[in-house]
Amino acid sequence: MAELPSASFRFDVLSLLPETFGGFLAAGLIGKAVAAGVLEVALHNWRVHASDRHGTVDDAPFGGGAGMVLKLAPLLAGLRQARELAPDSPVVLLTPAGRPMRQACAERWARGRGVILICGRYEGFDARIEAHVDEQVSMGDYVLNGGEVAAMAIIEAVGRLRPGVIGNAASLHSESHRGGLLEYPQYTRPQDFEGQLVPDILLSGDHAKVAAWRHQEALDRTRRLRPDLLDELDVAAAAED
Ligand code: ADE
Repeated sequence: MAELPSASFRFDVLSLLPETFGGFLAAGLIGKAVAAGVLEVALHNWRVHASDRHGTVDDAPFGGGAGMVLKLAPLLAGLRQARELAPDSPVVLLTPAGRPMRQACAERWARGRGVILICGRYEGFDARIEAHVDEQVSMGDYVLNGGEVAAMAIIEAVGRLRPGVIGNAASLHSESHRGGLLEYPQYTRPQDFEGQLVPDILLSGDHAKVAAWRHQEALDRTRRLRPDLLDELDVAAAAED
């Protein structure tokens, strides 16, 4: 990936449960990056925009049916506030009905200046919110109680690509999903653990042979565990021909 500008990158998160982000934003490499100002995370609880004193953010669905629907007005008021603070950021709605999150998406967002993430709760959004967002993204084909966990995953996936977040930037280059393949297997000492041996080639000191072996292992692993990724690579290669 091309070198990214080193200015601070901001996440604006619209959430009814901002307290869920506390530990996550304080710990590990993300915590350090936030403390250093390399990443900024603004949490916007859009309940404050409810029009009644109870802070109501949901209502019964038109047409009937079980459950409630998140009202448009308070959410949109929260979104407009976030947009004023981050006018260049794409607006991403987190929903199980969105496109599955991919590494390529994290790389694209990391090239910008920020991302606005909208988290629902277990009730669905009023569909008219779709006219106000740039993308709809899902964390996977399963249903969460809300978008908060998905937002944290995105903050981590995008944030770690920004300069100054991961100490050893070179480690980003060999990871799974870079270049469309899973990562090759890695080993550390001891060389013999209860009879499980490290492949001899890694002890050979022959860098070219190690590189070729790793590439083959990445291919084999991907074929075994994620054959769908190889199909995508074939399609991409055919499109380039
Ligand atoms: N909200 C509920 N389920 C979700 C999912 N799978 N991805 C993103 N947001 C969600």
